[in-house]
Amino acid sequence: MSKITAAITAVGKYVPEFVLTNELLETMVDTNDEWITSRTGIKERRILKDADKGTSYLAIKAAEDLIKSAGINPEEIDVVLLATATPDQPVAATAVYVATQIGAVNAFAYDLQAACSSFLYGMSTAAAYVESGRYKKVLLIGADKMSSIIDYKDRATCIIFGDGAGAVLFEPNTEGLGFQDELLRSDGIGRDFLRIEAGGSLMPATIETVEQGKHFVYQDGKTVFKYAVSNMADVSARIMEKNNLSHDDVNWLVAHQANRRIIDATANRMGVDESKVLINIERYGNTTSATLPLVLADFEHLFKKGDNIIFAAFGGGFTWGSIYLKWAYNKN
Ligand code: COA
Repeated sequence: MSKITAAITAVGKYVPEFVLTNELLETMVDTNDEWITSRTGIKERRILKDADKGTSYLAIKAAEDLIKSAGINPEEIDVVLLATATPDQPVAATAVYVATQIGAVNAFAYDLQAACSSFLYGMSTAAAYVESGRYKKVLLIGADKMSSIIDYKDRATCIIFGDGAGAVLFEPNTEGLGFQDELLRSDGIGRDFLRIEAGGSLMPATIETVEQGKHFVYQDGKTVFKYAVSNMADVSARIMEKNNLSHDDVNWLVAHQANRRIIDATANRMGVDESKVLINIERYGNTTSATLPLVLADFEHLFKKGDNIIFAAFGGGFTWGSIYLKWAYNKN
């Protein structure tokens, strides 16, 4: 019997309608389009304006898009994993609600949280479930309503983040396509540089924590940037070496969209041509768990069966890593 690999067989996406442009941000905080564009590559982001809708709304929409385009029966889905740093609520996993809403009534579901690396780590988990032979359809969704944890008076963070969701389906493959290898890392040194200080077990919510703005994302951008550049580039170059891939062998770089300069530095280190570096940060900003599947959804039409794709991500914690995957289908 040939070895089972875990292949991505379908993708889906959803971004909310409201567009927060750099020009609009100029009216909210002391910033300007030139600064944001040159430092980050971001022009606009999407924001979920409805106060009564959480991350589950984005996740459900992305999953429904996948289900519709792939023409699958949701009752056949075995597992629903939701990569997110902004669950609807603490305790009750958002993935469970999402699974029920999309009709995945035979699945079990749970959330995965590793900041901006949540989706990358989720790919490892989803692939392992499929490779084990125990599950045949694993739905991995990356969704974040970042606007729910951003202080729109803090120009260090509000220019970066946006809301969105993407989804992929992992299924068994016997042609050797799909998931090939991974290099996943983490280092607790990062805990203080990118975080929400209050609201967890270490500092539960009080009137004071709310008044002091401790429920918003805080980021030491310079330090995060330094670690992101060196670590993301390092694992991406190493996974190529480990798998004897030259820059010509790599068809696409699908990197976490946090900052255009971090992605370019990673591509440089890998020696990969600019034309292979997939970028949509200018339209969505950093959507945390949703960046990788949103790139897949936006560029799916370019991928050919057998293409070598290197995924890379870096996030709070710190968490980071790289995954090597062979694309398994031609669209249409
Ligand atoms: N608009 C205009 N000026 C701004 C600004 C803004 N939105 N934010 C900061 N500045 C100012 C700073 O006050 C500083 O001014 P000063 O030199 O007078 O003190 C200057 O611009 C440079 O700030 P700095 O923070 O050093 O900028 P930077 O080049 O490091 O870029 C980030 C800031 C946030 C874009 C960058 O550090 C970054 O992308 N970091 C990583 C972010 C990331 O990837 N996060 C998610 C990880 S998953």
